[in-house]
Amino acid sequence: MTQDLTRRIGANELIYVQEVLRTEFRSSSGSTFMRRLEEAFAKRFNSTYAISFVNGTATMHSALEAMGVGPGDEVIVPPLTMSATTFAVLQANATPVFADVDPETFQIDPASIAARITPRTKAIITVALYGLSPDMDPIMTLAEKHGLKVIEDNAECFLGQYKGRLVGTLGHCSSFSFQSSKHLTSGEGGIVLTEDLELAENIRKVQSLGYAGVGATKAKITKKDIQDPDYPRHVTMGWNYRMPELCCAVALAQTENIDALIQRRIDVANIFTEATREFHDWFVPQKTGPEYVNSFWTWVCRNEHPSVSWHKLRDAFLVNGGHGVYAAWKLTYLEPMFEKLTLLGRERFISAENISQYKAGLCPVAEHLQKRLMQFKTNYWDIAQAHKQAEILRKTLNQFA
Ligand SMILES: Cc1ncc(COP(=O)(O)O)c(C=O)c1O
Repeated sequence: MTQDLTRRIGANELIYVQEVLRTEFRSSSGSTFMRRLEEAFAKRFNSTYAISFVNGTATMHSALEAMGVGPGDEVIVPPLTMSATTFAVLQANATPVFADVDPETFQIDPASIAARITPRTKAIITVALYGLSPDMDPIMTLAEKHGLKVIEDNAECFLGQYKGRLVGTLGHCSSFSFQSSKHLTSGEGGIVLTEDLELAENIRKVQSLGYAGVGATKAKITKKDIQDPDYPRHVTMGWNYRMPELCCAVALAQTENIDALIQRRIDVANIFTEATREFHDWFVPQKTGPEYVNSFWTWVCRNEHPSVSWHKLRDAFLVNGGHGVYAAWKLTYLEPMFEKLTLLGRERFISAENISQYKAGLCPVAEHLQKRLMQFKTNYWDIAQAHKQAEILRKTLNQFA
């Protein structure tokens, strides 16, 4: 396995893509890049089953469907995340219930989850936000006590660790995204990991139109079956959520280079942490406890300066030559879609009581943080550029110290 630290997209991505095109999407060996990707990804995470997807939202939608989550069921999610986490719940016709987050790690707070559990709760989707795991032990204890399923949304976290275990192997299944901003990318794409054979079988069926012949480790029906006029194809309803072969080819090469791709983001985050250390009393980085390895999808701080706003800081950074700075997303329940209930008809599955909760004040910690978080990109392949940007940030913060 070659580890290339000089660029994000390496030589093998190109070679594998050419192979897909040269063989006109027909593999002579019968092995597809989809299966090669799934096997390589599962192996790197010491996991048993990996099922690839068209993106890292279809992954979670399918997992919920495969778990039997549907109308009337509640799924607990954090609001401080990309809205896809909640979209997956809505796509399954279930009800999102928002739990607050920890003020220092920005991750979903187990105490808030406990307070939101009702007899209708069926699942929890945790999010490893910005590359750091939530505190999973108390969450899994709660899940066991109440008979709930846990899906880890690790779109932003590859090779993060929690108490010596890889993030992605902590819940009942986990979801990853290969969208273009993520640690590993094929432009778009996603993958699910699980140790549970029955869940893996069901997830594959949802991913692949409910075909009879597909399963946990079988991504395609045989030609012989397809050609048979009596072949009963669809044992359940399903979606066509398969990851295209071209994307699988790129994602396989990325998976083979995963350690270098993650290490670079960690190195860049460390450069930013060191450069800004003297200001951490008011420009406070995301707290990574000693039992965690943060994979730093981005490097994030909360601006707690008493008089310098997010916009003032951002503008000064840009004037000084900075770039690659982002805000946190609006909290999902404060997006117009919840105020206007423009949920493509899913609103009819949500009780009036649940709907009445979707307003300011529901998650005070997340509401405080969302206005203050500043994310800086860690996706630098020219490390000199990372040093330059960190120095520009240091100079900018010094203007307000
Ligand atoms: C936390 C989180 N969950 C889910 C997603 C959705 O992934 P995708 O864009 O692959 O659907 C993203 C980002 O895109 C994300 O950041």
